[in-house]
Amino acid sequence: MVAALSVAGTAGAQTAEVAPPFVTTPPEVVERMLALAETRGDDVVMDLGSGDGRIVIAAAKQYGARGIGVELDPKLVAAARENAQAAGVAQQTRFLNGDVLKADLSGASVVTAYLLPWLMDALQPKFLAELAPGTRIVSHAFAMSGWEPDATREFPLSGEHAGRTATLYFWVVPAEVRGEWYAAQPEGEWRLEIRQNFQQIEVEGAVGDVPLRTSGAVLRGTHIGWQGEGEGEGGTGRFEGRVLTFQIVGTLTANGASRSIVFARRP
Ligand SMILES: C[S@@+](CC[C@H](N)C(=O)[O-])C[C@H]1O[C@@H](n2cnc3c(N)ncnc32)[C@H](O)[C@@H]1O
Repeated sequence: MVAALSVAGTAGAQTAEVAPPFVTTPPEVVERMLALAETRGDDVVMDLGSGDGRIVIAAAKQYGARGIGVELDPKLVAAARENAQAAGVAQQTRFLNGDVLKADLSGASVVTAYLLPWLMDALQPKFLAELAPGTRIVSHAFAMSGWEPDATREFPLSGEHAGRTATLYFWVVPAEVRGEWYAAQPEGEWRLEIRQNFQQIEVEGAVGDVPLRTSGAVLRGTHIGWQGEGEGEGGTGRFEGRVLTFQIVGTLTANGASRSIVFARRP
């Protein structure tokens, strides 16, 4: 089946129980999905609702990645295994028969999906709870409520799909950084308060008694950065760091000099 999976015109009748049907992603879109995810040979690519296995197989064949497909329909699971065998990537791929909502997502470093909006929304808490920060998610056609994509790509299709447009949505699972952080430094204690809405963050606080304001704060996976605009010597400059479980470890560059700062989470 190659018809576009669409909710247009059916939204009123749509219920949460309608399972995404088997509709294939055209090969050129598969390629774009894996490229958008910056797939590498050391990735584990998990396709949720893997159909005939094409995304997992392409990830293994073109990038040397390992792949896992999760699919509700056992006949499609069998077909995907045969396709992987025929493509010479049976050793690198696994196809599991089951419901994506019950699957363990934790081993994936790239997640792909071509499902339906309600199922993307139902998966959202699992993405945040089970996927390691930095995991890339690419969805063909359907976004998630509330969680803005890090990137959206729209492009015209060719061949038998000419005249149609494909849309891809891309997210990087953000580290959890909301709350208060502190670091003892020569100029006084740094106190940060970070507000977080998925990957969007605001950082403010103080260095000693001097208020710290920031601009351009970014969070991408475990990478965090901001431009300090405090009045005191400590507050100015660019901070770039990495979020660990209980620490943010990074480098402050100001006035041509760099130094390390380790922030601890305020309990
Ligand atoms: C639109 S197709 C996409 C197939 C393939 N990923 C591709 O892009 O070509 C959606 C697939 O998800 C499967 N599916 C639907 N609901 C599912 C669920 N809850 N758990 C696992 N698979 C599901 C369907 O059987 C179907 O094969």
